[in-house]
Amino acid sequence: MNVVRTAAELRALLPREGVGFVPTMGYLHRGHLALVERARRENPFVAVSIFVNPLQFGPGEDYHRYPRDLERDRALLEAAGVDLLFAPGVEEVYPPGFATRVSVEGPLTALWEGQVRPGHFQGVATVVARLFLLLRPARAYFGEKDYQQLRVVRQMVRDLGFPLEVVGVPTVREEDGLALSSRNVYLSPETRAKASILYRALWAMREVAAKGGSVAQALRAGEETLAQVPEFRKDYLAIVHPETLLPLSHWVPGARGLVAGRFPEVRLIDNLEVHP
Ligand code: PAF
Repeated sequence: MNVVRTAAELRALLPREGVGFVPTMGYLHRGHLALVERARRENPFVAVSIFVNPLQFGPGEDYHRYPRDLERDRALLEAAGVDLLFAPGVEEVYPPGFATRVSVEGPLTALWEGQVRPGHFQGVATVVARLFLLLRPARAYFGEKDYQQLRVVRQMVRDLGFPLEVVGVPTVREEDGLALSSRNVYLSPETRAKASILYRALWAMREVAAKGGSVAQALRAGEETLAQVPEFRKDYLAIVHPETLLPLSHWVPGARGLVAGRFPEVRLIDNLEVHP
């Protein structure tokens, strides 16, 4: 596996075609490795980036303390059969004077995470566009864990005509349902024991749907489940259209449950298809 830090090195080492690309912020877990495995199956060449993108963190968020361990990540990616690791510094991605922002507008970015984290999706869209232009992949892999991010990236790719396929990969979970996330390292043992409440709330909504209950009944079941863990301070719990992410009053195929909120030491988000 080649480890490269500059755009010039990338140009020398990347094939013109057949690149499967997995963008990450590092501190890799089995969820990232599922993206890599899928990319390996579908592309002759797999490139992974590790870049903690300052643009997508708001003031007071965890940019500086975001977990980093490049040596461990490098070994995991090497073992997973990755061909190239791109681990640029901030100045390589955003050279001095860099002033452009890519902004997907409308409810897709105004709602949910966009409301709680203003500017977040502009930071994501800007870095993802920049990385797509640097790596020129045929396919790019994103986890469904960040479902709204996946929708925003698909919208940007469609609108700007990036010549690539965006592939969404199902969330990988711990045994109790907690979605894998690099930020799970922030969880104290006490909070970890309660952190599956997000998944349990989503599952409760799914069960109501499966039994023929309404959207309103499903939301009520989700709220009641969340209320079992008062330490969890909800930002939102919603049932939305799987493409527009607008709240639903009636079921549509693929309806998605979204949940996010804070424990004292960490903010968590999750989502699940609640109506098949
Ligand atoms: O999902 C992530 O890890 C990040 O948002 C991404 C897509 C790598 C952009 O920085």
